[in-house]
Amino acid sequence: MHFLQETDFSTAQARAVFNSAEKFKRLRSTERPAVLAGQTWAMIFAKSSTRTRVSFEVGIHELGGNPLFLSKNDIQLGRGESIADTARVLSRYVHGLIVRTFDQSEVEELAKWGTVPVVNALTDLLHPCQIYADAFTLAERWAQGGDLLDSLRGRKVAFLGDAGCNMANSWLLGANHFGMQVSVCGPKGYEPGPAVQALLAKNGWAGRNQYTTDPREAVAGADVVYTDVWVSMGKEAESADRLKAMAPYQVTAALMGQAKPDAYFMHCLPAYAGKEVAAEVLELPRSIVFDQAENRLHMQKAILATLAQAPR
Ligand code: CP
Ligand code: NVA
Repeated sequence: MHFLQETDFSTAQARAVFNSAEKFKRLRSTERPAVLAGQTWAMIFAKSSTRTRVSFEVGIHELGGNPLFLSKNDIQLGRGESIADTARVLSRYVHGLIVRTFDQSEVEELAKWGTVPVVNALTDLLHPCQIYADAFTLAERWAQGGDLLDSLRGRKVAFLGDAGCNMANSWLLGANHFGMQVSVCGPKGYEPGPAVQALLAKNGWAGRNQYTTDPREAVAGADVVYTDVWVSMGKEAESADRLKAMAPYQVTAALMGQAKPDAYFMHCLPAYAGKEVAAEVLELPRSIVFDQAENRLHMQKAILATLAQAPR
């Protein structure tokens, strides 16, 4: 079993993963089930990372396993060894692969050729570990002792800024998978691309989402206002054009005032205050960005435990 996109866990599995994350969080200081005892999980990263790298390394360690960090350029993959050979070799040594890279096809190919679980730790297309942690962060506020996953049903997320980036795509898939509504808002020329539209269509979700260039329309009735960097990793050459096109989409305190009165502000981080979000919004009491960051750890432990215990 792999976790390459949001829908790789069925609704029933996602429910169990959320419950498991809640348990890992609650019992972190008292109970540490060693579900990865004796295992080594390789982490192949072709892009920078603070949260994903550290939360996976700490999480694997706390589950009794050994994380093995491999920057892409330190292994032969960075010198042109094929993905197929890398997957077949590493599968002889390690119990799972956690991969941050550019093209979604690279994680799919590792999964195809390897014989161990592969986790998508961010591609240009998707960031599923982040969305699961984010949705859990909302569910722990909304569930009120009831079912975590069910508490998301019917809630609206407004995503603003780079509407064609991995986080916008992951919200499109994640929100639909979790029964939420999503409004994606950004400038013309940066809309969600054909790859995510194909995934939405495949799941029967193509017509269910709002796309708009009007931030006020997007945040109206929203329970969550979410943004991400305007220049994702790999897009640095387009910086000047992107900053100009996306300037009208900054999340300001005034825009937050147009959402529901109890709406949360979320950001996967790293944040660039003064660009995609006004500095004061990051510090609002309704900003839950650091809870999101913390929950990456608990959610990733739940994801790893689920994959490690799944039948091969
Ligand atoms: N949110 C997130 O994935 O952060 P990093 O790039 O620091 O891992
Ligand atoms: N969209 C951003 C997310 C970083 C966590 C990027 O890909 O750089």
